[in-house]
Amino acid sequence: MSKQFDVVVIGGGPGGYIAAIRAAQLGFQVACVDEWKNATGGPALGGTCTNVGCIPSKALLQSSEHFDQANHHFAEHGISMGKVEMDVGQMLARKDMVVKQNNDGIQYLFKKNKIAFFHGRGAFVGSSDTGHTVQVSGAVDETLTAKHVIVATGSSARALPGTPFDEVNVLSNDGALRVGAVPKKLALIGSGVIGLEMGSVWRRLGADVTILEGLPTFLGAVDQQIAKEAKKAFDKQGLKIELGVQVGDIKVGKKGVTVAYTNAKGEAVVLDADRLIVSIGRVPNTTGLNPAAVGLALDERGAIVVDGDCKTNVPGIWAVGDVVRGPMLAHKAEEEGVAVAERIAGQHGHVNFNTIPWVIYTSPEIAWVGRTEQQLKADGVAYKAGTFPFLANGRARALGDTTGMVKFLADAATDEILGVHIVGPMASELIAEAVVAMEFKASAEDIARICHAHPSLSEATKEAALAVDKRTLNF
Ligand code: FAD
Ligand code: NAI
Repeated sequence: MSKQFDVVVIGGGPGGYIAAIRAAQLGFQVACVDEWKNATGGPALGGTCTNVGCIPSKALLQSSEHFDQANHHFAEHGISMGKVEMDVGQMLARKDMVVKQNNDGIQYLFKKNKIAFFHGRGAFVGSSDTGHTVQVSGAVDETLTAKHVIVATGSSARALPGTPFDEVNVLSNDGALRVGAVPKKLALIGSGVIGLEMGSVWRRLGADVTILEGLPTFLGAVDQQIAKEAKKAFDKQGLKIELGVQVGDIKVGKKGVTVAYTNAKGEAVVLDADRLIVSIGRVPNTTGLNPAAVGLALDERGAIVVDGDCKTNVPGIWAVGDVVRGPMLAHKAEEEGVAVAERIAGQHGHVNFNTIPWVIYTSPEIAWVGRTEQQLKADGVAYKAGTFPFLANGRARALGDTTGMVKFLADAATDEILGVHIVGPMASELIAEAVVAMEFKASAEDIARICHAHPSLSEATKEAALAVDKRTLNF
């Protein structure tokens, strides 16, 4: 006998669990199915983000940043200490504890919102008058039916053809977060977000890190003035990034991995490494979902086809997050989850794709919202630019981190903010002001006229807005 719900959510990552909570808040009877297992086979709600993505990577970035500070920066403050050592086991245990706190937090939220949770894999069986039916197999075997099903099955790391992940020598993001000792030599393929964040963790801990990138441009999606500034900082840190390479044979042996590649000059090179992280993008998860049973359309990448409202081609089935088009970001998945639950309730859920912020949690951090200078040029938009360096910001000097800048791009005629790009300390937090400003269609002058606390990094944001009108006060 199938259990009837108003809404069944398949996937308990940021897209799915947030959709389930919002639907429950709106008064629906909600079930969520998720198959992720913790080390002992129990449920581990939170998906990629909580288990092997956003949360554990930020935990390791924090630990390695502390190590780097103690090694290289404490002395400037007059703090001396003996030899600084890193207990990688303790660092990983702390990371696991942070992950578990988040897993448990979501289970608590499900109980609080009376969401029925089913631990197992969900697969479509078919549709009838009572709704769409989902078979759950795993820790529990159940059949669930609902008029509305939200698919939030997320994504998995893309492997290089012929080089599967073994998570010992060739690592995806999963294995990269479980390396038990600092590798002497670490190779990464792909200098995107994961490559830079994971490369930074192990570089700070002392690994000799080389990142091989296929494209000739560093961080091509990032405003190039910001990307260049970031690259200078990474070069200084000893992060070796080779652009425009063509990766060839990869051999896995007892002593590690060798990667043969052709560099940008056309020379053949062989790189030896103890471990290889492959971070070349991610693929949507639809394996085992049996989308054909309900006639759900997929695109050529395997993503579920949706319209701007996350509606699939099957009435009553919705899809959100990494399994559909758009940036693969946790907050984008969450926004879509909320909007879909509200649309099911007959409300006007809305996601503004123009104001989704991006953050790369390296040191310096890189964060942006809106269009880059190169995009505005390509779109033929007349714009004004204003930048302000952290070097001229009192709080940044006091912090001892003056790398980078804030950059504003505003419409030449109306002064409306079109993009804000930051490389520097706490860029991840500073970008929120720019998102709010753009959401409210603020002009650069609006930000320039707002009182910002002194001394704070946010004064650099105000000064960059002033710079659009060529009237910075402190530079
Ligand atoms: P997921 O989080 O992938 O969750 C999908 C869930 O569905 C999983 O639990 C999966 O097991 C389950 N599932 C799949 N199929 C089935 C099925 N048939 N039945 C039952 N359950 C199923 N984004 C950011 O915004 N900020 C960051 O700092 C950030 N850092 C990242 C770092 C790394 C290393 C990685 C890999 C990603 C990072 N991301 C970050 C991206 C972010 O993790 C994803 O965008 C986000 O998790 C997508 O959420 P989702 O709900 O769509 O899918
Ligand atoms: P990515 O798309 O960010 O970067 C992949 C890089 O690999 C690109 O620069 C690409 O040109 C390169 N590449 C692809 N194929 C290659 C090949 N054969 N040889 C050499 N280079 C190749 O993907 P990544 O880093 O795997 O991350 C996946 C996604 O996860 C990100 O796009 C992002 O959406 C999300 N993420 C977000 C984070 C954040 O918000 N801070 C952190 C980590 C991941």
